[in-house]
Amino acid sequence: MKKFTNETMYEIIEYLENMLAEKDIVSFEVLNPDIRIDKYSGSKIILDYEYIHRSYKSWIDLSELMFCKMMTPTISSEYTVILNFKKIDLENSFHNDSNSLNNEKYGIESEFSKINKNEEPSFLFSYKKALIHTKVYEKKQILNLGVNKADEFEIIKQIVYPEVFKNINFVGIDYSQSAIKEAKERFKEDNFSFYSHDINKLDELNLKKSDLIISISTLQSSSIDFKLVFMSLIQNYLEKGGSIILGFPNCRWIGSEIIYGAKNPTYSYSEQSLLYKDVYFCKKYLQQKKFKVTLTGKNYLFLTATSI
Ligand SMILES: C[S@@+](CC[C@H](N)C(=O)[O-])C[C@H]1O[C@@H](n2cnc3c(N)ncnc32)[C@H](O)[C@@H]1O
Repeated sequence: MKKFTNETMYEIIEYLENMLAEKDIVSFEVLNPDIRIDKYSGSKIILDYEYIHRSYKSWIDLSELMFCKMMTPTISSEYTVILNFKKIDLENSFHNDSNSLNNEKYGIESEFSKINKNEEPSFLFSYKKALIHTKVYEKKQILNLGVNKADEFEIIKQIVYPEVFKNINFVGIDYSQSAIKEAKERFKEDNFSFYSHDINKLDELNLKKSDLIISISTLQSSSIDFKLVFMSLIQNYLEKGGSIILGFPNCRWIGSEIIYGAKNPTYSYSEQSLLYKDVYFCKKYLQQKKFKVTLTGKNYLFLTATSI
């Protein structure tokens, strides 16, 4: 079993890259991170050997960068633990799905549908903060574009008191018929309307203006004319004084893991130029229209705009 004591992170990465090219699971022994929980990663610790301390967060970060899951560590000795990095299945990802002919790439039978963002802290924490920042509990009309099966409404339900919640009108749009069917089954109340419809043709629905518009991981879709739809939303669908929350994925979902870093169709690895270009376009446009804009989040960037 390989044991790391005072080797540098540079050396550890080289070792893991070589080993993972050949094996599905790599196990190695390191200083137990709990022994010096007060130290920054990289601190030298003298025990039976000279060690370099690294926190569990550093090891988890490393496993993510190596496209691995870190399994439960085992205690190996008084000072050390064994870490096991297991490679994730890189082929297993909704990003590889091509079932877009009938708009069901994100339908309930899809790989995408197995994802529950609401249970990922990096999503939920920032989304909840964005909703509270817009004072979601004061809204009367909420529009969600790319609503899928309406997971994003579930969080609003948890934030807002039931007697307030039932007086908000919720509208969800998505061209996946199976996802919309599921959304309708989850939210049967009269204050919910779901439409299986193309977002590029929103005008056909004669929707009322909303005082909160939410769209997560949707406007950048290849099927959507991003700038045109975005500007039309602000000009034609947002009530005066209303707010908008746009969620831009800065992650990929691969092998049942959320992996940091945006997907760019042109590259096989994460590349973030498109993400920042689109986010910056929206931010600048909204600021020109006199909105106060904040940008928060990690695996999902949340652009939240409120009227000044
Ligand atoms: C990546 S999913 C995001 C869904 C959900 N907001 C989430 O973050 O989990 C994008 C959603 O937008 C829908 N969609 C993509 N292009 C669309 C279009 N042109 N019109 C309507 N819906 C569209 C898809 O069916 C899918 O449900």
